Amino acid sequence: VQNQLFNFIGGNTGVWQVIKMETVVGAPLAQVERVEIIEGELTSVWQDFVWSLSGVTSYGRYVTRAEKDLLASRQADLNRPEATCAALIPISKSEIWWNLAQDERRAILETKSEHIKIGLEYLPAIARRLHHCRELDGEFDFLTWFEFAPEHSEAFEELVVRLHKSEEWKYVVREIDIRLVRADQ
Ligand code: HEM
Repeated sequence: VQNQLFNFIGGNTGVWQVIKMETVVGAPLAQVERVEIIEGELTSVWQDFVWSLSGVTSYGRYVTRAEKDLLASRQADLNRPEATCAALIPISKSEIWWNLAQDERRAILETKSEHIKIGLEYLPAIARRLHHCRELDGEFDFLTWFEFAPEHSEAFEELVVRLHKSEEWKYVVREIDIRLVRADQ
């Protein structure tokens, strides 16, 4: 669904327990114990937090029809009971990236980096949701969220390593890798 607002609230409460927080590149983000995900506008109840990152789901910028259909046929939903592991990876790209034209960005993201082709290999094990926040004037350009079962943790690790080696990642100027486990069961 497009245009849905999600807030990731870092602090001492929330169903997701932080097991690791690592600054890959750029300025760090304060360490927190828990992350809560709240959909929609934040109410005043949420005042006691360390950081709050918001992003919206949007339309696909780079996918071709064939890729869009392939993704739809393979992807799993979030909130699967077995998917007790998650990763929240906020990312920003450089001004050079944002000044490129659409065809140049697509060429880097897919033709050279095979982001979508590589990502598809990890479906349906890894469920995902991409949030955009550049237009919201947030600290990051994207909030990427992934959920998977513990037995797919290594596969997720491998996926991140493969993407880090790609041409696309030369444009990533800030990245925080936050790993979590569900703590409400
Ligand atoms: C699980 C497998 C994955 C799949 C299937 C996947 C697929 C995609 C697709 C289709 C897009 C383009 C959306 C559009 O057309 O606008 C995208 C964008 C993006 N993905 Fe992934 N991805 C995966 C994993 C990852 C991982 C692990 C990361 C971070 C480490 C990541 C970070 C991003 C970012 C930051 C964007 C936005 C790029 C931009 O608009 O410049 N993805 N992904």
